[in-house]
Amino acid sequence: MNSIGVFGLGVMGANLAMNMANKGEKVAVYNYTSDLTEKFKSNFTSDNAEAHYDLERFVNSLEKPRKVFLMVTAGPVIDSVIDSLVPLLDKDDIMMDGGNSNFNDSNRRYHRLKEAGIHFVSVGVSGGEEGALHGPALMPSGDEKVYQEVAPILEKIAAQVDGKACCGYLGKEGSGHYVKMVHNGIEYADMQLITEAYQFLRERLGLSVEEIATTFREWNEGELESYLMEITSDILTHVDEETNKPMVDVILDKSGQKGTGKWTSQNALDVGVPLSIITESVFARFLSGLKEERVRADQMLSGPTKLDQDLDKQAWLELVRKALFMGKICAYAQGFHQYKQASEAYGWDLKLEEIALIFRGGCIIRAGILNEISDAFKADKQLPNLLLSPFFQEKMNDYQASLRKVVIKGMESGLSLPSLGASLTYYDGYRSSQSGANMIQAQRDYFGAHTYERVDKKGTFHTAW
Ligand code: 6PG
Repeated sequence: MNSIGVFGLGVMGANLAMNMANKGEKVAVYNYTSDLTEKFKSNFTSDNAEAHYDLERFVNSLEKPRKVFLMVTAGPVIDSVIDSLVPLLDKDDIMMDGGNSNFNDSNRRYHRLKEAGIHFVSVGVSGGEEGALHGPALMPSGDEKVYQEVAPILEKIAAQVDGKACCGYLGKEGSGHYVKMVHNGIEYADMQLITEAYQFLRERLGLSVEEIATTFREWNEGELESYLMEITSDILTHVDEETNKPMVDVILDKSGQKGTGKWTSQNALDVGVPLSIITESVFARFLSGLKEERVRADQMLSGPTKLDQDLDKQAWLELVRKALFMGKICAYAQGFHQYKQASEAYGWDLKLEEIALIFRGGCIIRAGILNEISDAFKADKQLPNLLLSPFFQEKMNDYQASLRKVVIKGMESGLSLPSLGASLTYYDGYRSSQSGANMIQAQRDYFGAHTYERVDKKGTFHTAW
């Protein structure tokens, strides 16, 4: 009998199945179309992997309670796969979904399967193909007792940091897919912030691609250490064989997005979180899609003409490094604020320190600073915002002048720095004890009699303007 079945043998599913088999699990594998099953068999020979071409035989090859790990495209396909599996499963069998499913769909599936006596575990999976094969970060949710049934397998195949699996029970229903969704939102922001730093160094300081690669590699040895910094410095060393130009220069500047970053921003509006940095990174992708318009606008719309060329490169490199770090922390502060708000809104009881620990390895946003982020939430379970933890408060106070200088210099130079700019605006907005909202209240009361509160006495008031 097999201890787990993997349904769906695309690259991620096949790699997860191989990971499970390599870690000693008896894995049954199945794919709707037999071609991918054949491909799996030809690519991977192991006594621990058993390929099936018949769905019923695949299911019946699993020891009870059966564990079926779905790795199919997020969306309606998952519901049709569930429809095909439910008649073959028994009470207390377990279905896990490792796709980038929308948490609302996962909540629905959790309750639908619960009625059929079948357990549903949402599993956010991060780390791409490499992660799936060698150790992803896993974000499981559902019933905690059911998680304990699948934990031995999931925690064995997950990335390990300091002897701890980058996997742990996150909460009820589809909260695991929610955590993965916001992970992707933070990922978008991380990528956008690094890109803006790259653009500043390249276009404003005039550094060569090779110099930036070296700079990013050096930054990656310090507090900016992360997978995304590492791969970006590596990207900048690649040369296109056809043109002998830097690879990055022959790639069209229109970015795609499968949608998880957008979902994160949409949900931020639902739960009332100022998610400006992540949302600006989503918008930057949309703006990049207007390539033809931008080329035309470039000929029609003017910007600054005279740029001071005598910038002290070494000094500005350190300013940009600090600005990038501060932008990163502000983005994480927003993302973890969203976790806090969602946990209260949906009744999930998310543990922010646990989420940060899971992100330390395997996932796309893995970074050294996640230890300090986890420590911050562990030290103060009621911490309202990452920026107010002692460690990050000190960093922000020390780095805010650098972020300010870089954003101002970028704006003066006509550089579009949406996420760095949003970071500074968010920081200044969050630390302002007096916002401009009293004027908003006055305007709302003026035209709509929406009333307002006063600073000097309780109650709600209206003025006959
Ligand atoms: C991960 C990644 C992955 C993501 C793809 C595409 O955590 O492994 O976040 O899940 O879906 O990288 O993302 P976009 O197309 O939205 O950029």
